[in-house]
Amino acid sequence: MLVQITENFEAMSKLAAEIVAERVRRKPDCVVGFATGSTPLGLYKELIRLHRAEGLDFSKVTTFNLDEYVGLPPEHDQSYHYFMWENLFKHLNVDRRFVHIPMGMAKDIDAFCAWYEEKMVEAGGIDLQILGIGANGHIAFNEPGSSLGSRTRIKTLTGTTLEANARFFKTPAEVPKYAITMGVGTIMDAKELLLLASGVGKSDAIAATCEGPITAMWPATIVQMHRSATVVVDQAAASKLKMKY
Ligand code: GLP
Repeated sequence: MLVQITENFEAMSKLAAEIVAERVRRKPDCVVGFATGSTPLGLYKELIRLHRAEGLDFSKVTTFNLDEYVGLPPEHDQSYHYFMWENLFKHLNVDRRFVHIPMGMAKDIDAFCAWYEEKMVEAGGIDLQILGIGANGHIAFNEPGSSLGSRTRIKTLTGTTLEANARFFKTPAEVPKYAITMGVGTIMDAKELLLLASGVGKSDAIAATCEGPITAMWPATIVQMHRSATVVVDQAAASKLKMKY
């Protein structure tokens, strides 16, 4: 695992964008796994800038998103569909046919999850998976206690995640309680991982991820087992690391 500590959110975002852009240039038809949340927003802004300023080409890139809330239609402004189109895809030359985001309104969720896994295999697997991290160490919506071998499936969100998400909804009753998420095992199948974290609120999760024992109680710790994982953090998120990097 390569740990890169950057000065702040902007520097973290720039470095992450350089990594993604390099992979897209090297393999124009690569498969990229995208994440939602506030953390990758700076990275997405920089990718948009690179697309506009330097013609970084996404026309052949296939995408798979990590997760989506169950029960939210794609046009809901808190859905991850909406997030991805608003904050990234509509600003790039992505081909709609190559974009995959879990369907929160799927009638048969188990069948949908199996189909999503098949699509990833058909695409040749994910070349580069971008990840954020929850303060409790979750990746995608794999909450503490998730099987480290899990595949795409429905998960119940924990109290801390519901609280963290409450600010985005008008009433607590509206906050989705379930999500479709790639599993920890699905994420580990990606050929390369790029995990980002910013702010002191992520410092315990980053300390556990980089230096703690591997445990399902901090799902992100499994990243230690990946052959090609880069963790890009800012100084605040790195503040509880003990080793020198
Ligand atoms: C949600 C998402 C995760 C994301 C996490 C952290 O739980 N499902 O993919 O990593 O939020 O979000 P933020 O980057 O806003 O702190």
